[in-house]
Amino acid sequence: MHGVFITFEGVEGSGKSTQAERLVRHLTELGVDCFLSREPGGTEIGEQIRKILLDPANRSMDALTELFLYLASRNQHVREKILPALKEGRVVVLDRYAESSAAYQGRGRELGEKLVSRLNKLATAALRPDFTILVDVPVQVGRERKEQSELDRLEIERVEFHERVRDGYLRIARRAPKRIKVLDGTKPAAELEVEICRLVEEVLRRKGTLH
Ligand code: TYD
Repeated sequence: MHGVFITFEGVEGSGKSTQAERLVRHLTELGVDCFLSREPGGTEIGEQIRKILLDPANRSMDALTELFLYLASRNQHVREKILPALKEGRVVVLDRYAESSAAYQGRGRELGEKLVSRLNKLATAALRPDFTILVDVPVQVGRERKEQSELDRLEIERVEFHERVRDGYLRIARRAPKRIKVLDGTKPAAELEVEICRLVEEVLRRKGTLH
């Protein structure tokens, strides 16, 4: 028996975290054994790494250091939590996963998609999501949704950085149109929720998790 692995991706303020929570609530109501986790984080070690990554005081962090820390958090998460849950046949929903590194470090930090892809493969034991939802919003729209006084180390980056991230995401999605579904994050949240639930239910039916 093998579970189903769903991931959410998007730029800051896209609303993906809210949508991920709502999806898990909906699936639980349907009687599906699922749980929500996030990256960076998701394990005790990962949550400690997350603090280092998001602390605005760590302004001098080198781009490769940053990539390794995201990958370290992911590696721990995959081996400690995600793979065992999938082996038990559970549905795992993640708020961010490998495509975040491809978009933020590969494109945003310009480390290159090839390098990030190679290292992602190592850190994930080559585990790919069954389905990925990319909640796409224009960078300005996302930024306006964020509280300016509480921005983390990545959020305080220049607009151009976030434009590259968005562009990176859209390029990745174009290369894997079957797995990655791009949805319009400027739609009302309730409308988006219905769309996401319908798409994921379809995936779960195909996989035999939902009848
Ligand atoms: P988080 O508070 O989870 O952001 P959001 O609410 O926008 O999801 O912080 C995660 C930050 O880390 C976010 O700015 C994106 C960034 N990130 C990367 O740069 N690379 C990665 O691999 C991951 C997982 C996240």
